[in-house]
Order: sequence, then C-alpha cells, then structure tokens
Amino acid sequence: MNSVAPTVSGHSPTRFRALTPDENELLCNTDRGTPGGDFLRSYWQPVALASDVDAGGAPVPLVVMGEELVLFRDTDGKYGLVGRWCPHRGVDLSYSRVEVGGLRCLYHGWLISGDGRCREQPGELEQDEYSAEVSHSGYPCVVAAGCVFAYLGDGEPPALPGYDVFAADPDHVFAARLLYTGNYTADIDHALDPGHVSFLHLQFPESEASGRYGPSGSLGITGTDMSANALYGLDPSPLVETERVDYGLRVAATRRVDDDRSFVRVMEYMYPNICTAPVFEDGYTIQYIVPQDNESHWRFDISLDRATAFDKERWAAIWGAMQDEHGHSHRRGDNRYRQDRDQMGDWFAGMGPFPPDHDGCVLEQTWPRRRRVEEQLGAQDRAIAQVRDLMVTAINDVAQGKPPPRGVQLPGHRVVAFSAVVDRSTKWNQLYDKREAALSPVTESNSTTTEGGGGRER
Ligand code: FES
Ligand SMILES: [Fe+2]
Repeated sequence: MNSVAPTVSGHSPTRFRALTPDENELLCNTDRGTPGGDFLRSYWQPVALASDVDAGGAPVPLVVMGEELVLFRDTDGKYGLVGRWCPHRGVDLSYSRVEVGGLRCLYHGWLISGDGRCREQPGELEQDEYSAEVSHSGYPCVVAAGCVFAYLGDGEPPALPGYDVFAADPDHVFAARLLYTGNYTADIDHALDPGHVSFLHLQFPESEASGRYGPSGSLGITGTDMSANALYGLDPSPLVETERVDYGLRVAATRRVDDDRSFVRVMEYMYPNICTAPVFEDGYTIQYIVPQDNESHWRFDISLDRATAFDKERWAAIWGAMQDEHGHSHRRGDNRYRQDRDQMGDWFAGMGPFPPDHDGCVLEQTWPRRRRVEEQLGAQDRAIAQVRDLMVTAINDVAQGKPPPRGVQLPGHRVVAFSAVVDRSTKWNQLYDKREAALSPVTESNSTTTEGGGGRER
C-alpha cells in the first residue's frame, strides 16, 4: 500500500492523492484496542508538565488517547497515573486524599497506588477483603525534560528515546504545551508543511510591529544577518525534499536568497508522533503531538537551546498568558480566533505575533474528516503525504504483530534540525551530516527518573 501517487515525471506538476476514508479512520482513531491506538501506545508519551502536580498536592484529571486518568504525586514525591474512576463504585479519584502509598478514595477509603493496585480496603472486615482481585489501570511514569512521560502500552515499556534534549542541562531546556481542537494527525500534517511559514506566520518587516515581538521568525540564522521571517518572505515556494531514515523522515525546504545563496531549513518526523523544528541557531524544538481524544490533542513543545540558558519565568509567562484554564489558546473558533483585520498590515494572519495561535486557526479547520479525504495535494505537500504513508504502514505492521519501528532508542541520539544560508551548490543532506558530526557527544542522562510502574490492568 502506498498513499503516495506515482510522481509525475518530466514537466508535469507533482501531485499526491488524498487519504482514503479507511486510511483516515485508521490514522485518526487512537482509542484503546484500535490499531492506531496500539501504535501510539507502543511508545512513551508526554502527558503533563512535571510542574502540573506537586508532591502531596491536588491530583490532576487528564484524558490521554480517550482514557480518563488521574495524575498525582504521593507524599514521597512519586508520580502515579491511574484510571480516574474508583474501581469500587466509580467515584472520581481526582478528589482523593493524597497519602504515602497513593490515592485514598473519599467514599470508602480504598488506597490505590501508582501502579493501579488496590492496597487497602479499610471498610471491609479482614476475612472479606478482596484487594488482590481488584482490577484497575495504572501506568509507569518517567520525568524527563520537564515533562511527565507515561507508557500506556502492554508489557514492559521500551527505553525512553535517547534524544539529547533528555540529557541536556535543564537550564537549557524548556517545555510548554497547548491544547488544540482536532485530531492529532492534523497537527503532524501542519508541522510537516514547510511552505506555510511564508504566509501564515509572516510578519511584514516594514511594519511598526517589526522587532517588537519575538516569534521564531526573528531569530538569527547561520550564515546571514537576515531573520528567518525575512527569508521566508523572500521566496514563498521552497523546493521540498525528503529522505527516509529508519526512525522517520527528514524534510528539507530550500528557498532562494539570491543568485549565489540558498536558505535551507531541515526538520524531521520521528515515529510515532514527533516532529522537530529548527527554532534556535544552535538547538531545536521537539514537538510531541499527543491525542487527548480523537477530536482534540496536546502539542508538547520541548526546546533545547544549546548556546543560551532559558529565562524560564519569562517564557512560562508568555505561554501562560496565551492559554485559558483548559490549556487552549484564547483564540478559538467560537471567537473567530480574534482575527483583527486592522493588524493585517503587521502580520499576514491578523492574529497577533505568536505562531501557535496562527497554527490553531488553520489546523483546527483542516481536521474534519470530510475535508481530509477531499484534499488536493501538490509538491509542497510531499512530506505530509509521505509521513501519512509511513504511519499507515507502521499501524498495519503493529496490528499484524510486527514490532513498532524504532531507531532512536540509543542513548545520545542528537537531533539535527537547522536553518542556514549557504552557497547554492551546497546539498542539504551533506550539510545535515556535517551538522551531526559537529555536535558534541551526549553524556549519560541524569535528568530522568522512573516513577510509578506496573501494567495497565490486572
Ligand atoms: S467508591 Fe472509592 S472506595 Fe468506594
Ligand atoms: Fe505553523
């Protein structure tokens, strides 16, 4: 099965076909027991920021891939992730008392530990206790790069991927997240669309707003004193090229700067739901795009700036101001994303300076199923079509009992995402190899800790 239509050779334009309804359903349904759900559950997934819950503090109700869960830290500081509804009579465990061994249900005092086991049934006479028979979900948690990762699959969890961001100095790592309406695959599509930055996120350089704000477009690019924003504006039709690698797909967009130079931007898709973006001159953002359910998702942005420590307070305030109490941007479909046409002289979209806001407007509109099967895709959509194909193949493989694709489980995998202005004769993949070789080796991580544990249900 190949979701990519034969590329038309010669002078005919490149076309890629839309998803079929069956492929769309296979990709988008991540409920437990579905092929798409089994695929994502074969990997660690971020479910919260580590700062979302304090030791002994209020448990946090979460939905991950349609499963209603509660995240907590017991009074010893250990994280636990368990089913939200008490296995006795279904009371919400997010109201529980938090004790040394886990959550104490308010109704009859059962104690549920982080692995989902029922440890105590204080309301039962000793001869009537049946805690060993009680079945409840509980998932292992790992804390890395400021996020709580959970493994919602069956059996022993795999190793956490060896991305260098997980082993880096925590001062150089910053994690944030935003909730979006729409299936998670709509956001993966968006991340793999190198052309949209010449439109959607564009800030007009001559505008009064120029220089006042700091979205990614204003950051420095190796080899030039021009901003990314200016370079995106110079050439709106990049050449999009891809290269298959064992852990996913490399994607390069090459824009014309002048007769002698090109602007190259390289990012990657990594199994199963990860995209990288070159956001800093020496660093990147890795995006984990995690279904809340089939109609909404979280985007976790985990950034590594190798050169400069983050002013975390400032960045947390920027992200915090952007979102409501649910984690969704204040700009939503029901307020028409607060589009202000008077701003269109400053920003292409008329929706303020922040790319995550612009992203929400477009990706939330591309999601409905009927639109995805009616898309008309061209050369700029190459990476979208190819990654859909990779994902459909991987989902079918996992459904047939084959192991999920791996490739980045080795410690010290150095993510290579970069933007650079280079001589036009320079090939992007040679540049990739040079960049990779120039990165310093990663030392063993001391920034991850495993918490909780246990299988999903007993
Ligand atoms: S409902 Fe939780 S202990 Fe009874
Ligand atoms: Fe975007």
